[in-house]
Amino acid sequence: MKPRVFVTRALPEEAMNILQEHLQCRIWEEADIPVPRDVLLKEAKAADGLYTLLTEKVDEELLSLSPRLKVIANMAVGYDNIDIAAARKRGIVVTNTPGVLNETTADLTFALMMATARRLVEAAEFVKQGNWKTWSPMQLTGPDIYGATLGVIGMGRIGEAVVRRAKGFDMNIMYYNRNRKPEAEQELGIVYASMDELLQQSDFVVVLTPLTPETRHLIGARELSMMKPSAVLINTSRGPVVDEQALYDALRQKTIWAAGLDVFEQEPIGPDHPLLQLENLVALPHIGSASIATRRKMAVMAAENLVSALTGKEPPNRVV
Ligand code: NAP
Ligand code: GLV
Repeated sequence: MKPRVFVTRALPEEAMNILQEHLQCRIWEEADIPVPRDVLLKEAKAADGLYTLLTEKVDEELLSLSPRLKVIANMAVGYDNIDIAAARKRGIVVTNTPGVLNETTADLTFALMMATARRLVEAAEFVKQGNWKTWSPMQLTGPDIYGATLGVIGMGRIGEAVVRRAKGFDMNIMYYNRNRKPEAEQELGIVYASMDELLQQSDFVVVLTPLTPETRHLIGARELSMMKPSAVLINTSRGPVVDEQALYDALRQKTIWAAGLDVFEQEPIGPDHPLLQLENLVALPHIGSASIATRRKMAVMAAENLVSALTGKEPPNRVV
């Protein structure tokens, strides 16, 4: 009999075909509504494998109620939604989707940086609202991107892809990373700095670490206070890496110039959230990897990981 899996969202056809060929699939069919927790717990209880998105919390409670569970295949590179220690303790395999989304997420990071600096959302709204009366010397102006200093916090796969884009804009690039990366320094011409140096010197600070206990609120009031009043903060990692209350205060008091966020402490962020009332904040709904081709690749990759792990093979992208 085929192993039984629960798939927590409708997926692109090519991914579904892979799963259905090898596994007995139960699927939460709603495209834009996450599976309710009680349904997830019930399905996980009877499943050999789970195909999850970053919207599903796979924690101690779920694992302790799921005696058959052998594999969790996450359709994301980030896996902070999964309690890795608890999975490891039970010998449950966890997989993710690294690499295939680097370029797409770097594109979005750069697009968000440009949109925030050059006030694209505000400017488009200005035209649509009929406020454009004339060309004016300082109307809707913002900082230059070309030639500016970029500080990347978290110089991993996506960080490096952002750097390659920044080089085309003649940016001076510094980075801070948990471990120093001499090869990347040589290859990309980037300079290592301490967090404090990077925050003090950068015109653009881009955050691209994973969310871990060490990176939760990595950017808080102290860090924001070190940034230049003209600086722009971009977060395309995970929301809780930036302390949103501290960011709100900094943006409101204009101790930094603007921020662009693709990720939030609570997702989806409510439309009444104070951050969204600020003109110097550009907000996106976690679309870093959202190109058609990349989402298809991620969906297939997670499907292949799940099938491999449940058919006695080593899954290509094993986290634990
Ligand atoms: P990666 O290759 O693992 O890179 C992460 C980098 O962060 C590594 O170089 C790592 O350093 C560094 N790091 C980890 N903890 C740190 C700390 N405490 N202080 C400083 N640096 C630290 O991961 P990736 O593929 O580039 O993805 C990065 C993250 O982006 C993902 O985990 C995910 O949360 C997020 N993401 C978001 C979107 C989106 O849609 N917005 C899309 C894709 C990914 P070491 O070299 O020491 O390990
Ligand atoms: C998206 O946020 C991912 O981690 O893949």
